Amino acid sequence: MASLRALRLSALTRVNSPVSRLVARTYSTKWLGRRLRCEHVLDSRHSAYQAAESLIGLKERLAELIPEKQEEVKWVKKELGAKVLGEVTVDQAYGGMRGIKGMIWEGSVLDADEGIQFHGYTIPDCQKKLPAADGGEEPLPEGLFWLLVTGEIPTKEQVKLVSTEWAARSALPSFVEELIDRCPNTLHPMSQFALAVTALQHESTFAKAYAAGTNKSKYWDSTYEDSMDLIAKLPNIAGRIYRNVFKDGKVPTIDMDKDYSYNLSKLLGYSDNKDFVELIRLYLTIHSDHEGGNVSAHTGIVSLEAATFYVCDSDSLFPTIPQTHLVGSALSDPYLSFAAGLNGLAGPLHGLANQEVLRWIIHMKDELGSTEVSDEQIKEYIWKTLKGGQVVPGYGHAVLRKTDPRYTAQREFALKHLPTDPMFKLVSQLYNIVPGVLNEHGKTKNPWPNVDAHSGVLLQYYGLVEQDYYTVLFGVSRSLGVLAQLIWDRALGMPLERPKSYSTAHIKKMFANK
Ligand SMILES: CC(C)(COP(=O)(O)OP(=O)(O)OC[C@H]1O[C@@H](n2cnc3c(N)ncnc32)[C@H](O)[C@@H]1OP(=O)(O)O)[C@@H](O)C(=O)NCCC(=O)NCCS
Repeated sequence: MASLRALRLSALTRVNSPVSRLVARTYSTKWLGRRLRCEHVLDSRHSAYQAAESLIGLKERLAELIPEKQEEVKWVKKELGAKVLGEVTVDQAYGGMRGIKGMIWEGSVLDADEGIQFHGYTIPDCQKKLPAADGGEEPLPEGLFWLLVTGEIPTKEQVKLVSTEWAARSALPSFVEELIDRCPNTLHPMSQFALAVTALQHESTFAKAYAAGTNKSKYWDSTYEDSMDLIAKLPNIAGRIYRNVFKDGKVPTIDMDKDYSYNLSKLLGYSDNKDFVELIRLYLTIHSDHEGGNVSAHTGIVSLEAATFYVCDSDSLFPTIPQTHLVGSALSDPYLSFAAGLNGLAGPLHGLANQEVLRWIIHMKDELGSTEVSDEQIKEYIWKTLKGGQVVPGYGHAVLRKTDPRYTAQREFALKHLPTDPMFKLVSQLYNIVPGVLNEHGKTKNPWPNVDAHSGVLLQYYGLVEQDYYTVLFGVSRSLGVLAQLIWDRALGMPLERPKSYSTAHIKKMFANK
């Protein structure tokens, strides 16, 4: 712990901007408080400092918003608590709970046709409205995090505050570095990722506050601190895993004046390419959140209050059941909760699909002997996949019924930056062919591409060709959505999640003679 503090202090000492000093002043731990008084004296000579002084930091803004939101939720529960959100059929109980409305998720809502909206802002809205880096065009994920937490579009200065704060909190404890270094290269990067995040739990402010008997009205504060620390440390974890597994194991240092995506790119070894850094900004923004029911969000951190569930039979009406979070709802701290989410993301029907897509395309290219293949050859390859009892990776979605706007955003990036890349052309050709084949196959409810159908081809273009690694980047991004929600779960006092289950025998008994 002492060494971590030293690292944090040295990190802050290297930061030399008015914004970073404001960040430092808003840190809540005692040791930082002492440091800040020092910084304050130094700062008073800075003319730009006065401008930063008037900035409202993320935690301060959150603290302002929490009482309003608590009142709003109290009102909704009182006035609307008995309203019915939907019914549950036996098919849904066997069908992965598709379409059951039983969860509250504040940051984003997924529309089957329009795609994801973050507090009402679509991906194109975010691309237009969220601040970009100097000289860049893509939204900074720091801004998206601000939006997820507050529901508000931040200013460029506020985004800079978050960048500086994340850089200042980025150092890993040495035992976590050693833990990653000791993993065999054959351990999947996602397993290493979840392992390192679990180990970071050693640092949890929330766990310590809970053990010390903190009043539950204050849980959000330590959850916020943990979430900011955890997000800040992810580039160092992700970079270390990449360097160990695929490179020479030497990990560069975080640049305290740069944004989160630049630093992640630097740790991976690609920050010299400004287009790659832009891609990472876009990538981290669009993979961040996809409402609450997806596996990584639901596993890690889920919440619901006051929905009414019933099987379609009047005798089996349940009373209102308080629904909740999963791992996070047990008051597991953000590290444990997010590690659980990462393990869910590592499944091939979820986040691992992005590695599967590129593998599938490369296999097709190898089998057909070229990237110049006819539509007929591609159709045959797709049918071979389907007849082999496999899914076409990157296509289909449990909620979406149109092309995923996250796919479209990546396609537009490709059209701008790599229009003649043979692999991109192949991805475009697939876009024209796969939906028709899936429709003919007749099973898939949504034959259109999802986010994973495009991400790999962009990364490989810039040299990041190690497909096994792709889901780690997805995981870094997903932290933004699930941790923003966990902070709110704590602020709103969401209860332990405990839906009701039945056995097949019980279902049969319930409906016998009906
Ligand atoms: C995402 C996914 C898991 C959603 O599953 P879902 O909600 O059950 O989808 P559907 O209701 O359309 O599934 C109905 C049937 O079509 C099949 N199907 C769905 N997408 C398919 C695809 N891309 N290729 C082949 N078959 C598919 C399902 O496996 C299911 O078959 P079954 O009845 O034999 O079990 C599914 O579309 C899929 O496996 N896609 C490929 C993996 C992927 O890209 N995952 C990333 C998602 S962001």
